[in-house]
Amino acid sequence: MDYKQYVKIVEDWPKKGIKFKDITPLMENGAAYKSAVDEIVAYALKKQVDIVVGPEARGFIIGCPVSYALEVGFAPVRKEGKLPREVIKVDYGLEYGTNVLTVHKDAIKPGQRVLITDDLLATGGTIEATIKLVEDLGGVVVGCAFIIELSYLDGMDKLDGYDVLTLMSY
Ligand code: PRP
Repeated sequence: MDYKQYVKIVEDWPKKGIKFKDITPLMENGAAYKSAVDEIVAYALKKQVDIVVGPEARGFIIGCPVSYALEVGFAPVRKEGKLPREVIKVDYGLEYGTNVLTVHKDAIKPGQRVLITDDLLATGGTIEATIKLVEDLGGVVVGCAFIIELSYLDGMDKLDGYDVLTLMSY
């Protein structure tokens, strides 16, 4: 499917100079959203995934339907102060700004095979931090799946040695 027809490019948002890739039209189109989720599910089915992990907030939109289809659990990675029990945390850099990501300490069991999902790979800061959280808990990252890659921001450089699926690239 040509997913790019469902992406709206918003100039100067959230800051001047950023060309924001808005995938809400893709999610609002039932056939496009289903097709994107199905492609990630097909990819994941080859990898014996035990649990899906996705970073807040847009990683949930992709990861939850994938985990439902795979009939495995979903563990949320959230910004600091959002998870109620004991967490581990990591600092990370964004395309615009910095932040802290956390995950519950008991979310992933050592040796579990983890698929990480997100809508977008930009600088790679978020996926790098999410991988660190998963690996610090003893999880094995068997794949990383994104709807969009912004190849000019070189996020893929941070994923050397990991298996990556992207459905479209800018
Ligand atoms: C966006 C996007 C990815 C991340 C990609 O999330 O959904 O998670 O940025 O950028 P990076 O590769 O440079 O790290 P954001 O942190 O804006 O949070 P949100 O999903 O809650 O809007």
